[in-house]
Amino acid sequence: MHFSLLLVSSAVASVHAATSPFPAGVIATGTQGPTNPPAPTLGTAINQTSMARLLSINSIDDFCLFAPPQLANISDTETIEVAWCTKPRNNARVIPDGTITGVSFLKTDAYVQIMGTGDLTKLNINLNDTGGELDPHGAFGSGNPIGGNVTTNVVDGVDEPIQEWMLFIDYNQFCLRACTNANATYSAAAMCEHKLDLMGCMFVMPGTYNAPGTFETCDADVAYPPGWYPVVDGPTTTFSTFAQYFTGVYTGGNGQPTSYTVGDTVTPTAPATIPSSSNCVTTSTISNGIPLTSLGITASVSGSASSKASGA
Ligand SMILES: *[C@@H]1O[C@H](CO)[C@@H](O)[C@H](O)[C@H]1NC(C)=O
Ligand SMILES: *[C@@H]1O[C@H](CO)[C@@H](O)[C@H](O)[C@H]1NC(C)=O
Ligand SMILES: *[C@@H]1O[C@H](CO)[C@@H](O)[C@H](O)[C@H]1NC(C)=O
Ligand SMILES: *[C@@H]1O[C@H](CO)[C@@H](O)[C@H](O)[C@H]1NC(C)=O
Ligand SMILES: *[C@@H]1O[C@H](CO)[C@@H](O)[C@H](O)[C@H]1NC(C)=O
Repeated sequence: MHFSLLLVSSAVASVHAATSPFPAGVIATGTQGPTNPPAPTLGTAINQTSMARLLSINSIDDFCLFAPPQLANISDTETIEVAWCTKPRNNARVIPDGTITGVSFLKTDAYVQIMGTGDLTKLNINLNDTGGELDPHGAFGSGNPIGGNVTTNVVDGVDEPIQEWMLFIDYNQFCLRACTNANATYSAAAMCEHKLDLMGCMFVMPGTYNAPGTFETCDADVAYPPGWYPVVDGPTTTFSTFAQYFTGVYTGGNGQPTSYTVGDTVTPTAPATIPSSSNCVTTSTISNGIPLTSLGITASVSGSASSKASGA
């Protein structure tokens, strides 16, 4: 019984591989992280203590972010962050209405990208936390967070598992890119390059960043991969690349501490270009309409003494 099921699923997988319109390196071929449902699913039960780690990035009001399971700084919890979604889906936690204060949802030929603002302390991120970067690699090779996965349906209407993605998030801003295409010049890994984690959203995922209050869905031009700068020489374009500078000390085979330096000492101030957005459709806000009490939020923690008294 099991054997024949396996045959069926591998036959389906190879048919998919043979007919996949996606270039190599775009579609994730491994298994789903251990805390995740087998597939992205809308309308799962609300569970604000869920440890599921499956993001879907589908539209301005159907997306997810990684944030800590309990109040913390991002950089202290990168391996254990959990999925928070705008709608009940993927067994994940639900982002309470009022958290997100602005979103630009960008579709390009190479990736889908979200840039947004909000009060992300509602997603357990410490006030004033300068944040960090999540990606499918990580110290253990199984993602930051471990077992974190991302899907999108923007390319073909089907939930596609995406191999290369990156999320920068702090207490009031986030940017997320899932790389949905590749070609001979730009691999998905280059377009979702994850090693520039100190450079921030506007450098790594350039685009039109709006002040809070704008909710828009746009097409956008494709950026150069993070850290790439075109060098045009007549008909030929090559690229110079910026690598983030860092130093450290490791203990070598001789048992002696040895210092090392990687990257460039001069940090560029801007990306090569800031791609334009076009065909933007705006909306006034996003909302799932779920009462905050259903999400375990009983009273405003920062409410005044009198409102607490009247609630008692
Ligand atoms: C889940 O993430 C892991 C680690 O990045 C990856 O190897 C695997 O292919 C992903 N699986 C899916 C279904 O996206
Ligand atoms: C919510 O998620 C947690 C962590 O995955 C799990 O232990 C718990 O059983 C879930 N609760 C419900 C009601 O499904
Ligand atoms: C956060 O930053 C603001 C503005 O700098 C400051 O007034 C406030 O005390 C800080 N709060 C915490 C908890 O760090
Ligand atoms: C959290 O990060 C902020 C700055 O990003 C830092 O000032 C603060 O000490 C950190 N808090 C903890 C608990 O590590
Ligand atoms: C790869 O894609 C980029 C962005 O869409 C495009 O500018 C470039 O010309 C493409 N390169 C090749 C070799 O097709």
